[in-house]
Amino acid sequence: MSSSGNFKIITMDGGAAVGKSSTSRGLAERLDLMHVDTGAHYRTLTYALLAAGADPEHPESISDPLVALSLDTLLEGRSAKLSINGIVPADADIRSPEVNGAVSKFAALPSLRSHLFEYQRSQADVARAHGYAGLIMEGRDIGSIIFPYAEHRFFLHADEATRAARRAKEGQTDSIAARDRMDKSRKTAPLVCPEGATQIDTAPFTLEEVIEQIAELIESHESHS
Ligand code: DC
Repeated sequence: MSSSGNFKIITMDGGAAVGKSSTSRGLAERLDLMHVDTGAHYRTLTYALLAAGADPEHPESISDPLVALSLDTLLEGRSAKLSINGIVPADADIRSPEVNGAVSKFAALPSLRSHLFEYQRSQADVARAHGYAGLIMEGRDIGSIIFPYAEHRFFLHADEATRAARRAKEGQTDSIAARDRMDKSRKTAPLVCPEGATQIDTAPFTLEEVIEQIAELIESHESHS
């Protein structure tokens, strides 16, 4: 880890299964960044709210359970995870069919998004405090809402057949197209390519090639600024 040089913030947005997570993790290793998956934030809250009996069709049902949840960060390697009341739920729990089916509905609720806003922005300070060279944050609204002024903003996409094949390979049941439709059409912080972000079609490339392409873009941008 190095704390010298300019602290970098890299945003990585895109729909479900476009390759955000693998690409972000690979870049984090290569560029000594702390990694944050904000999809996991929405999944973790969805899991906790479902357990508390909240119903996304009745937005008022999330208010009481939400205030009872204390949010913090636990580092697992270079990935910063959202803990709720001191616990990071298991990956299998936040990627279950129940959570896959409900997460976009919860994520469309403005009160839930504003609950996460400051927490997500504060992750830059967590990365600095741990001496990382920067932060890479992936999600749907990172380059548009959370860090709109970040110098390095990327938007990944891929055709639907490629994305469905990737999810199937991970052994997951996920209605990618339905989630994307909901994520794009919601009023608050919809999934969009942020203005000025670099768009990359990941379908024709291997993971290593995508990481290489983006790392080169970041390095060349840094050397010219
Ligand atoms: O990246 P993912 O598929 O794990 O994300 C799960 C859901 O969380 C996604 O369907 C929409 C929501 N999400 C969001 O609304 N905003 C983000 N920044 C990240 C995820």
